[in-house]
Amino acid sequence: MACYFAAGILILITKATAIEDAAFWNKVARLELDAGLDMRQNLLRAHNVVLFVGDGMGPNTITASRIYKAQLRTTGRNNPQEAPESSFLRFEKFPHVALLKTYNVDKQVPDSAGTATALFCGVKTNFKTVGVDANVKLGDCESSLDPAFHVHSILKWAQDAGKRTGFVTNTRVTHATPAALYAHCAHRSWECESKMPKGAENCKDIARQLIEDEPGISINVIMGGGRQCLTSNITSTAYDPIDTWACQRKDGRDLINEWEMRRKSQADSYRVVSTSKGLAEIDFTRTDYLLGVFANGFLKYDHEIDPEVTPTLAQMSAAAIEILQKGENGFVLVIEGGLIDQAHHRGTARRALDETVALDKAVEESLKKLHLPDTLVIVTADHTHSLSINGYPDRGSDILGIAQRSKADGLNFTTLTYASGTDIKYFPFNETHVTRTDPSKEDLTDFKYQHQATFLHDEANHGGGEVTVYAIGPWSHLFHAVHEQNFVAHVIGYAAKIGAYKDTENWANCYTSQLPVLILSFMSLLM
Ligand SMILES: *[C@@H]1O[C@H](CO)[C@@H](O)[C@H](O)[C@H]1NC(C)=O
Ligand SMILES: *[C@@H]1O[C@H](CO)[C@@H](O)[C@H](O)[C@H]1NC(C)=O
Ligand SMILES: *[C@@H]1O[C@H](CO)[C@@H](O)[C@H](O)[C@H]1NC(C)=O
Repeated sequence: MACYFAAGILILITKATAIEDAAFWNKVARLELDAGLDMRQNLLRAHNVVLFVGDGMGPNTITASRIYKAQLRTTGRNNPQEAPESSFLRFEKFPHVALLKTYNVDKQVPDSAGTATALFCGVKTNFKTVGVDANVKLGDCESSLDPAFHVHSILKWAQDAGKRTGFVTNTRVTHATPAALYAHCAHRSWECESKMPKGAENCKDIARQLIEDEPGISINVIMGGGRQCLTSNITSTAYDPIDTWACQRKDGRDLINEWEMRRKSQADSYRVVSTSKGLAEIDFTRTDYLLGVFANGFLKYDHEIDPEVTPTLAQMSAAAIEILQKGENGFVLVIEGGLIDQAHHRGTARRALDETVALDKAVEESLKKLHLPDTLVIVTADHTHSLSINGYPDRGSDILGIAQRSKADGLNFTTLTYASGTDIKYFPFNETHVTRTDPSKEDLTDFKYQHQATFLHDEANHGGGEVTVYAIGPWSHLFHAVHEQNFVAHVIGYAAKIGAYKDTENWANCYTSQLPVLILSFMSLLM
């Protein structure tokens, strides 16, 4: 671990001064080899688990984001003296890495509801369904009511074991990914009653499942957006508009208030907040339950945040850990960077990379607060997007910029492109051909710039390739191969002895036999 770090530093320092010759690469490889040979397995029981999900954060997004982050730190772009390609995101330093196959039971290319059910409940399922197995067809309310078809999440397993639980997202708290933590629903878009179709009268919307049912009502920390799904008659503002793609609550209920009333009647110590200022004022020592709803729809992109109003993903993550780690039996926390996906769906590559950096910051801030030796920390994605990195740009080139000139149409093309997108950059040329706009005539660093796509659609589509998973802490070495995505929940269950794994052999007294692991883990804390 320390050696990997040294290898990274070596690359960054020497790049500016020396040629990357044979001696250089042999030295880098020796440090990596040392790190591999030093590897120890941490067999402690995971007291705590933190699972980060970068929504839509496929391998190409991670590669591009690491270069983007390094270029943000340095003087900027097109500087071959810098070595952004050799840098690492924080979570890329975790010692164990594997691949996850993301397909849904019925789709080659998945959606976030099916993948979240796999990640959190340990069972792959149908496209756009949450918290139910493949017996439930999309939109079939009646079958989704059958408890035999319900699958339960790591938050429920944790609660049954007396652990504290929480989730943080910068999408809506009722959005597909978090919904799989607490809801059982035949359609991800049933976030509130106004989008429930005819024939679904017997089913409860996702927002009500969060506020009225287990495990939702026992979750200690809930943070994100989605006020329009929880509360009727909300107001839209320029900074905080109503999201017209999602449902709006119209039944007159205010579920945020109902949550508060329940806490009050149970004499719980709780807080309800709606701004980053409110979040910063919380006395964590006196708070066991927190509901933070910071926007009508999604939270702002990180680069658009008004710091008085909207908390960053890193701030929400830190607050969640403060509250959760007061519990005696440990905790399970899920943190979603959901706007990576949102930015990719609009084809806005810079935003997607910027949101990945925001997730990486949340990882970095969280690691500072966690007791790593007995905390399993996992960073992964639910699915990829169609972002590609191509052409032969020189070392150090602006990752958002031009790669080369096309030998076919004579126009420049960018290093980043999408397979599908929404912005028309093609114009009729003759009966059979189209022509492209010239990207070198556009501001490629604009957060709203949409990188070119092969074909147009209502939005840019998900990708169907593998996602990476990075892990550190107890049993993180179980991520070691090409796995099915639903394996993630099982590793968590096994490592923390929760869910189906609660009665597996006790790993007590590992502390003494695992002293080298502890020392290594503490050292990695200092990195
Ligand atoms: C919402 O607005 C409707 C019509 O404007 C009104 O009848 C209803 O009382 C309002 N409900 C709440 C909870 O404010
Ligand atoms: C292609 O981009 C380069 C900069 O990357 C620029 O100097 C050149 O003029 C562009 N060529 C065309 C044909 O637009
Ligand atoms: C359209 O333009 C392309 C490229 O110049 C050419 O190859 C093709 O034959 C043209 N088609 C027609 C129908 O003119």
